[in-house]
Amino acid sequence: MKSGIFIVFEGIDGCGKTTQKDLLADFLSQKGYPVETTREPGGTLLGELIRELVLNPKYQEMFPLTETLLYLTDRAQHVGQKIIPALKAGRIVISERYTDSTLAYQGFGRGLDQAMLNQLNNLVTQGLKPHLTILLDIPPEIARIRLVSRKPGLQLDRLEQEKLVFYRRVREGYLALAQKRPDSYVVLDACQPPIITHQIIRQLVEERILVNI
Ligand SMILES: Nc1ncnc2c1ncn2[C@@H]1O[C@H](COP(=O)(O)OP(=O)(O)OP(=O)(O)O)[C@@H](O)[C@H]1O
Ligand SMILES: [Mg+2]
Repeated sequence: MKSGIFIVFEGIDGCGKTTQKDLLADFLSQKGYPVETTREPGGTLLGELIRELVLNPKYQEMFPLTETLLYLTDRAQHVGQKIIPALKAGRIVISERYTDSTLAYQGFGRGLDQAMLNQLNNLVTQGLKPHLTILLDIPPEIARIRLVSRKPGLQLDRLEQEKLVFYRRVREGYLALAQKRPDSYVVLDACQPPIITHQIIRQLVEERILVNI
């Protein structure tokens, strides 16, 4: 492989990104491809610190712009320190969340200006775009049930505590983004059992990515 491949999982909290990212990474590793998995916020030492800050429910007073800039700071570090070097080394990078999380959550969810967010995304990513974005689409009510049962007795993080009406806007935002970029976006029904969704993802990665490398 001459240069790497960049695959991103997107979707609201609890849709199954971690589950599907890990299943896809195992599948590709078993086929002998060099794979690197990562996530936003986080993915680097500094990024994990920003993750702790931005998701901590203690900071309820955080302004939407403050939140946005924290995510973008994390992304600048993530792209520069981890994603670009891994792609240069010819790896398949699979990230949980990327630029469209900002457009969906801070744009559609919080109401910040999309053009401004696009500009900032471009700046912090050095223009790097994913080869494929997989949107795991799910009604917020079902995702919420999954989150609560994943963390019985545990407090949800600051974003997870947002009301369902916020998550409906984020979901609609993701669907709108996917519609605008059909060439690099795939929308999947994330309500199916994980193994069924994984089989669909396997097939589409084989057909759209692996045949070209
Ligand atoms: N298809 C599925 N059907 C039912 N439960 C699922 C499915 N996929 C994942 N889960 C469960 O739902 C919970 C959330 O899944 P997961 O952590 O993969 O989602 P996520 O999108 O990564 O969430 P977050 O945004 O919080 O990182 C987990 O307990 C997981 O085991
Ligand atoms: Mg996750």
